[in-house]
Amino acid sequence: MKRIGLLTSGGDAPGMNAAIRAVVRSGIYFGMEVYGIERGYAGLIEDAVFPMEMRSVSNIVQFGGTKLRTARCLEMMTKEGQKQAVETLEKHGIEGLVVIGGDGSFRGAKTLTDEFGVPTIGIPGTIDNDLAYTDYTLGFDTAVNTCLDIINKLRDTMTSHERVSVVEVMGRHCGDIALYSGIASGAEIIVVPEIAFNMDEIASRIHRSRANGKHSNIIIVAEGVMSADKFAKGLQAITEYDVRPTCIGHVQRGGSPSMSDRMLAAQFGNKAVRLLNDGIGNRAVGIRDNKIIDMDIIEAVSMKKQFDYELYETLQMISM
Ligand code: F6P
Repeated sequence: MKRIGLLTSGGDAPGMNAAIRAVVRSGIYFGMEVYGIERGYAGLIEDAVFPMEMRSVSNIVQFGGTKLRTARCLEMMTKEGQKQAVETLEKHGIEGLVVIGGDGSFRGAKTLTDEFGVPTIGIPGTIDNDLAYTDYTLGFDTAVNTCLDIINKLRDTMTSHERVSVVEVMGRHCGDIALYSGIASGAEIIVVPEIAFNMDEIASRIHRSRANGKHSNIIIVAEGVMSADKFAKGLQAITEYDVRPTCIGHVQRGGSPSMSDRMLAAQFGNKAVRLLNDGIGNRAVGIRDNKIIDMDIIEAVSMKKQFDYELYETLQMISM
């Protein structure tokens, strides 16, 4: 393969820039030409394509966001949009495509592969950690660390005022950000889309913790369950404690990537290009049991994410 394309798509995630750098530099190492595509599939449809050089990716490894910019592209779900995307690839002689994004982005790649025979490689880039085939997605670690920083600060003020803090984190269908930031921050309760909750039980847990000498409580709610505001109002109505909502929001999507995310980015990006260089397409790269893996992209997107109930129980056992 002599010429490959690269795009970032869907919600951005810290580490995307480091992955862009790894793809471009690995491609050049193998003697390939690497073309960047701006604004994800939207740029592919609109022909926003440009050649990238060694120095195009200098000094970006440490930044959040994505230098290629990104978009959620509804047009890519239409036959017309898909045909235009393939025309752009053909026009520039791009023989393989690396897509950095979440499950929606992988579905676009799967269509290009399935219906148009374009070899694609998916790199999992999303803070949600909602792709079942990989233990971790790019950006998840940094996002959780950002949440921890905020929750630590909330704990200071909540303890001083003996309050209950309800913190909303991202995750529409997947509770991993809530689960990991809950365990790592010492939160007493997490509420995730995968497990039904009961407000009375939550109030009882808070009563018990206060009776055991606690001066504050942190409850982390994944956005897919409900907003912090609504949850706090519901809880306030049935307890005597002072309940305060905080929505972390898009802050958790930005910031300098952690060491773990930079390492993943380097390894995912390099693996993606090694595969294309070996003439292998239609794969998703990931990490499992601490080893970089690749698997069929169609299988990867059809796997169902399993919630880690053991980790959830761990939180319940050690949090009171
Ligand atoms: O998929 C990543 C994500 O950050 C989700 O956690 C969140 O629900 C969504 O994107 C927010 O999307 P937007 O930035 O388009 O509002």
